[in-house]
Amino acid sequence: QLADSLYIINGFAKEYFTDTLFQSEEGQNVGLSYFEERGFTEETIRKFQLGYCLNTRDSFVKTATAKGYNLEYLQKTGLVTIRNEQPADNYRGRVIFPIHNQSGKVLGFGARILVKTDKAPKYINSPENEIYIKSRVLYGTYFARHAIDKLNECLLVEGYTDVISLHQAGVENVVASSGTSLTQDQLRLVKKYTNNLTIIYDGDAAGIKAALRGLDMAIEEGLNVKLVLLPEKEDPDSYVQRIGANAFREFIEENKKDFVLFKLEISLRDAGNDNVKKSQLVNEIAETISKIDKAEDFTRQQDYIRQCSQLLKIDEQGLITLVNKYIR
Ligand code: GTP
Ligand code: MN
Ligand code: MN
Ligand code: MN
Ligand code: MN
Repeated sequence: QLADSLYIINGFAKEYFTDTLFQSEEGQNVGLSYFEERGFTEETIRKFQLGYCLNTRDSFVKTATAKGYNLEYLQKTGLVTIRNEQPADNYRGRVIFPIHNQSGKVLGFGARILVKTDKAPKYINSPENEIYIKSRVLYGTYFARHAIDKLNECLLVEGYTDVISLHQAGVENVVASSGTSLTQDQLRLVKKYTNNLTIIYDGDAAGIKAALRGLDMAIEEGLNVKLVLLPEKEDPDSYVQRIGANAFREFIEENKKDFVLFKLEISLRDAGNDNVKKSQLVNEIAETISKIDKAEDFTRQQDYIRQCSQLLKIDEQGLITLVNKYIR
């Protein structure tokens, strides 16, 4: 009941913001030109149902309440806040990215400021409510699911605009974690469509760390995880727009690294000659390997044991013993 009302409000808001983008003068001059400057075509903008919220105090909320939408529910969706005791639009002067569920209904929104400042956040996202539970959502699933299924691979990127630019370039099997680290529910969502997850994150330290945090969980879910790090200062959006779709695809294929081996490599570099760190590392990697379901993927576990013991310069049998200790 409440959930239905929130879906209906979000559906109305989505329409309102796309109409504003295409039909109002401010929408065209500010919102549409912003998207065009970023290289999004009209087809792409319409497909992802991007929009614009006027830079006025309460145009949206006034229209919505005049149409009979309940103010309390409007606040629940995060579209409206109370400012100086009066209802006000929360996303004013921002471009709007609707976040869809797997069947295309709008769960919430991401709203981006046009010019980055230190004062306001770059993106405002919908608050959690009865229909929008962040940890369960991957942005773009609705648009990507058929391609993921067909290609038997899911690409995971950080941001809304990464998903959109890649789609426009014809890379459609892609979803975004929206800047948070991966959750079990999100991994299960991927698993519904494929076992093969390729994470494409910014090449900076934060990107790598965020990716690594999800590793053991992903393995427990039975996912085959690969990682691609992009060149410094690039994200998938900027990179695909700079080098083009074909070169981007090639880059991904050539730079895909197995995630377990990647983790081991950077940890080894980290440990250097420190023997305590090194033995901790052996334990960690044994634990990670132990999470691979043997029944499901015996050769995979064996491969890892062989490759990791080589990298660690330790005896294979010793690693097997250790791995078995972690298997309950
Ligand atoms: P553009 O700058 O528009 O290209 O976006 P981006 O996706 O490249 O942004 P960035 O790499 O900084 O962040 C990745 C994702 O994290 C975004 O798509 C958002 O989902 C989320 N994010 C970024 N900045 C903020 C913020 O200020 N607040 C919140 N809540 N989320 C953010
Ligand atoms: Mn980053
Ligand atoms: Mn970033
Ligand atoms: Mn980015
Ligand atoms: Mn970006």
